[in-house]
Amino acid sequence: MLSPEERREIEAEFAHYPNKQAVSIDAMRIVQKHRGWVSDECLKDIAELLEMSADELDGVATFYNLIFRRPVGRHVVMVCDSVSCWIMGYDRLRRELTSRLGIQMGETTADGRFTLLPIVCLGACDHAPTIMVDADLHHDVDPQKLDGVLEKYK
Ligand code: FES
Repeated sequence: MLSPEERREIEAEFAHYPNKQAVSIDAMRIVQKHRGWVSDECLKDIAELLEMSADELDGVATFYNLIFRRPVGRHVVMVCDSVSCWIMGYDRLRRELTSRLGIQMGETTADGRFTLLPIVCLGACDHAPTIMVDADLHHDVDPQKLDGVLEKYK
């Protein structure tokens, strides 16, 4: 069930778009901001508010990889696996991350601190390899730099 605050924030977006369906991504981001992820129940409630089916809204969520449809940790580490980062050391970086955090891609650490996910090009190819932690972009990330980066996120 959406909270009154979530509902209010979503409805406030209606004024900025030509129709309710166009608010899809913003609405899911609002719920994610409050809850960390978008559950099936929330998705259904949002869809109802936007006068669309839950399947249609889920389709939008599928194409937008910053909407989390499963619970995630306090911080989400997204590792770019597109071509420039691949060439500049993605695989070594991924191995360092999975080994330091003790999880595989798609998993969350036991203490709930980090979730590790792949992501497509972050638009900083000239500073590959790159990772994004929550909303922060980190570039030229090598294994030596990794501890300093992760340390910032408690
Ligand atoms: S390929 Fe990784 S930032 Fe572009």
